[in-house]
Amino acid sequence: MSVFKQIVLLLSTMILLSYGSLTQAAGDPVKGKVKAAACAGCHGKDGNSLAPNFPKLSGQYADYIVKQVNDFLHKKRSDPIMSGMAAMAGSAKDLADIAAFFASQKKMKGTQVKSAKAARGKILYLKGNSARGIYACVHCHGKNGKGASKTNPFFPVIGGQHKVYLVKILKDFKLKKRTNDPAGMMAAVAIKMNNADIDAVSEYLSGL
Ligand code: HEC
Ligand code: HEC
Repeated sequence: MSVFKQIVLLLSTMILLSYGSLTQAAGDPVKGKVKAAACAGCHGKDGNSLAPNFPKLSGQYADYIVKQVNDFLHKKRSDPIMSGMAAMAGSAKDLADIAAFFASQKKMKGTQVKSAKAARGKILYLKGNSARGIYACVHCHGKNGKGASKTNPFFPVIGGQHKVYLVKILKDFKLKKRTNDPAGMMAAVAIKMNNADIDAVSEYLSGL
């Protein structure tokens, strides 16, 4: 195991311990399906949003969805649209049910883009760029961006997500507009990326 992988493993164990409450109370996807109507207008009935600025939630980890909505509620993450919507999720139980429903849907999937840009993005995703200190995304986000492991909700599913949203959010991390990533793990990567890297890796990811 590489030193980097060991650090990631250690960090995620520490986070799992400190965010222990996140892994409690599994939601009920059947009840969640009804409650998710509050989110469907933007995120799609099954979590596959049509508009590219609304992230897909289908097949995302339930605990990741819960964390993000709570972060919006508690102003650790902000967005002109979603910050106002977070309260619509209702009680903690309602939110757990909604999250369980979206998580139970097919993992998000995009349409493959065959471009030189996507090919560059793939190299960055799989290998990073050691000369410039960019860690390879695959270490944390897993094969094809579908998550590191079934039981680790801290590294979200990003493969198959909308390109417009990916570009926006990577720039938010880079410019410290989004700062809710545990231990600043994601900002540490984004800050080393230039706009061309962000565009390329997002083009690749959105096609997975
Ligand atoms: C009016 C549109 C709208 C509605 C309704 C809405 N959202 Fe969102 N949501 C957004 C937007 C826009 C973002 C992206 C925010 C950003 O760019 O940071 C978002 C982001 C999110 C994220 C973060 C996803 C990620 O990959 O990080 C979650 C989770 C989420 N919404 C859950 C919900 C839930 C649950 C509901 C229903 C209770 C809901 N949203 C209702 C517009 C909406
Ligand atoms: C050291 C581990 C690590 C590496 C390496 C890493 N990420 Fe992340 N990434 C994270 C974590 C942790 C989060 C979740 C932040 C949170 O909880 O809000 C995240 C979140 C994201 C998100 C936001 C997902 C969403 O919808 O909310 C995107 C997009 C992303 N990463 C892309 C990348 C790309 C592209 C790379 C490679 C250039 C990369 N990441 C490398 C740990 C990592």
